[in-house]
Amino acid sequence: MTTVRDAFESMAWGTAPESPTIANEWFDRHGRRFGQFINGVWTPAHETFEVINPATGKPIAQVTQGSDADVEAAVAAARAALPGWKALGGQGRARWLYAIARGMQRNSRLFSVVESLDNGKPIRESRDIDIPLVARHFYHHAGWAQLLDREFPGMEAVGVVGQVIPWNFPLLMMAWKIAPAIAAGNCVVLKPAEFTPMTALCFAELLEEIGLPAGVVNIITGDGRTGAALVGHAGVDKVAFTGSTDVGRAIRSATAGSGKKLTLELGGKSPFIVFDDADMDSVVEGVVDAIWFNQGQVCCAGSRILVSEGMAEQLTAKLRARMETLRVGSPLDKSVDIGAIVAPVQLERIDALVKQGRDEGATCWQPSWSVPKEGCFYPPTLFTNVSPAATVAQVEIFGPVVVLMTFRTPDEAVEIANNTRYGLAASVWSENINLALDVAPRLKAGTVWINCTNVFDASAGFGGYRESGYGREGGREGMYEYLKVSHKKRNPRPASVRSADAGPQASATGRGRASDETESGGSAPSLRSGAGRGEIDRTPKLYIGGKQARPDSGYSLPVLDSKGRTIAEVGRGNRKDVRNAVEAAHAAAGWSRATAHLRAQVLYYIGENLAARSGEFAARLKSLTGSNGSREVDASVRRCFSYAAWADKYDGAVHHAPFRNVTLAMPEPIGVVGVAAPDEAPLLSFLSVTLPAVAMGNRVVVIPSETAPLLATDLYQVFDTSDLPGGVINIVTGLRKELLTPLAGHDDVDAIWVFTSRDDATEAEKLSAGNMKRTWTEWTLRDWADPLDGEGPEFLRQATQVKNIWVPYGA
Ligand code: NAI
Repeated sequence: MTTVRDAFESMAWGTAPESPTIANEWFDRHGRRFGQFINGVWTPAHETFEVINPATGKPIAQVTQGSDADVEAAVAAARAALPGWKALGGQGRARWLYAIARGMQRNSRLFSVVESLDNGKPIRESRDIDIPLVARHFYHHAGWAQLLDREFPGMEAVGVVGQVIPWNFPLLMMAWKIAPAIAAGNCVVLKPAEFTPMTALCFAELLEEIGLPAGVVNIITGDGRTGAALVGHAGVDKVAFTGSTDVGRAIRSATAGSGKKLTLELGGKSPFIVFDDADMDSVVEGVVDAIWFNQGQVCCAGSRILVSEGMAEQLTAKLRARMETLRVGSPLDKSVDIGAIVAPVQLERIDALVKQGRDEGATCWQPSWSVPKEGCFYPPTLFTNVSPAATVAQVEIFGPVVVLMTFRTPDEAVEIANNTRYGLAASVWSENINLALDVAPRLKAGTVWINCTNVFDASAGFGGYRESGYGREGGREGMYEYLKVSHKKRNPRPASVRSADAGPQASATGRGRASDETESGGSAPSLRSGAGRGEIDRTPKLYIGGKQARPDSGYSLPVLDSKGRTIAEVGRGNRKDVRNAVEAAHAAAGWSRATAHLRAQVLYYIGENLAARSGEFAARLKSLTGSNGSREVDASVRRCFSYAAWADKYDGAVHHAPFRNVTLAMPEPIGVVGVAAPDEAPLLSFLSVTLPAVAMGNRVVVIPSETAPLLATDLYQVFDTSDLPGGVINIVTGLRKELLTPLAGHDDVDAIWVFTSRDDATEAEKLSAGNMKRTWTEWTLRDWADPLDGEGPEFLRQATQVKNIWVPYGA
């Protein structure tokens, strides 16, 4: 028999099991067989699949495999509910969100136990992290519903939203999706992951109980086929997805050209950076939270420890000691640290990757004890001697496996941290706040935690950079993802026809390199030289890296005036020119680090220099388009001044997360943005789509108007005399269809904007999936002269991505 003295001396842990009774009663009440929740009622279960408790391997319920007809019915129900839900107004919707939040809290024990049974996560986590965050999410977004009209003027709900979520945080991901969507006035169809549909169904029952209007939230179950049917449904206006990067990529391609708004929260391989002045005991507990939280099945798991070389040995020893004390076991045991892996297939994947790590020569360390034989369990695992290019250092393992690598200097730490295709999160450990705050902005990640990790709150946006996806969930920035600008009705864009066009072949004059040599050297020709005279006396070149560059092809294209006369030729850029332009844009990275004040000064200068030459530009416009050129030039000058003004005023925010910390939401430039500029209003529209990107610190590669490219090429001199650093704006003239493909497919382009045809948009969106570049496409006619339509926050939002930096304070 164990005496009190024995217990005191050994300090051994007993078990502290949570009872599954409450959950079992709920399963039994439904006969352990579930239909779907469509239009406020439960459909009878038809073709079903088994849901397994991963800790025991035993089935817990039968759930319906949603068919195309189910998707159809759910989307129709959401569509039908939309007018009423919108008409309810912010206050009306806020009351429903409050009711949901309170319902979650009332039933928190049921939800936690069902979640742990279904997913395998420790009850400590489902009870103390997932469910409270779910309630917080609905409370917070009830507030956004309440304040919607005041805080988001000129915006409205997108419509019907299709949402597909993964299995790692089933209820939390559901809340992250549903709360902002319905707060904004959308109606939703949500599909939980096939491994973990139970808490979403339990939630549907809560909605039924509180009487949420039918059709506002529909829950359909099923596997990837049901997900694909939902995201592909023509009645869905917006798709929100969380899951693997591969499926995210497939969704990007499947929705290309559909006009659906899209947010993707994908995988990660997040760095956990430890400087030598970090508090090592905190670091060790930080690693526990970073990679052993939720069995490491966390998209933002700190799965790559980067430690200052001098501390590596000490940290490794401390980590091994701590790992030895971790407990793996029944998710319903409150004294367990690590529960079950979600499913056998995931366990096999983890195991295979660990084997590969060993085979590639890394040192694998696991604690001396073994995990339970029954069920899906995997021990905490630490790899050392890992090269940055090793599979285990690059691939998202999505399990309790962490790699440890070293660095010598802060710069090297940043370099290794960013050496990944992902960019979801990062954490930085140092007692030197100057160092931490110097490193944070340099990390390519949507969230940076300083001296903490895996902290979340509804008030702070969460989401990725690069192949970790785009869009934010939570906070003000997350609300924008479920809203659209309510603009006046726009006309569809007429098909773009080059004035000289009898097909691209005929339009290329093929004068070749020799004739190019005849034009006036490197200096830009006078605007007046050819205008209106019906003769060709010059061929403006491309503008790459601040210099005029001959097109690689050696070919040029005629430019016609409004009367159909050839007045000039422009270079016919090709794939190689696009590549050079992207390279030049990359080399101009200093622009992204320049102060906003400096960027503003350059943009003012561009405006001034354009104004000084307004007569020439007006004449050019008149000759090319027959329009009143001076009005467009005046509007263009104003636009330059507007973006100069915006450059240092599009501020970030400090979010009020309920912790002792400040969360700095910083809008950062995206990087290199490729732009297919519109044909109409060729000067004004060119500047309207280029300058917001530049004002926010991006570098751009622009394909100018195909019909009136001279307005863009005439700007070279303006840029040259305005202190714009070379490579910030690069212009490649030519045939759009030849240039857009290499630009949208280029892996070093971070965003692609298309303001031309739907075909162009479709092409660009398809190609964007390669490196998951952000996309902004439209094929309706904006009124560029109208400041409400042609400039403003919508452009600035597209030109930035929000990074949230969490800085705790206090002892
Ligand atoms: P997954 O990305 O296949 O599944 C996520 C969701 O997408 C599920 O609801 C699934 O039914 C749905 N889905 C699958 N194919 C679809 C399609 N073509 N169209 C629409 N929806 C579709 O993730 P899976 O297979 O469960 O896990 C595989 C790997 O993905 C994991 O090992 C992990 O590395 C990663 N993963 C990453 C997550 C993250 O949050 N970053 C979450 C889940 C998985």
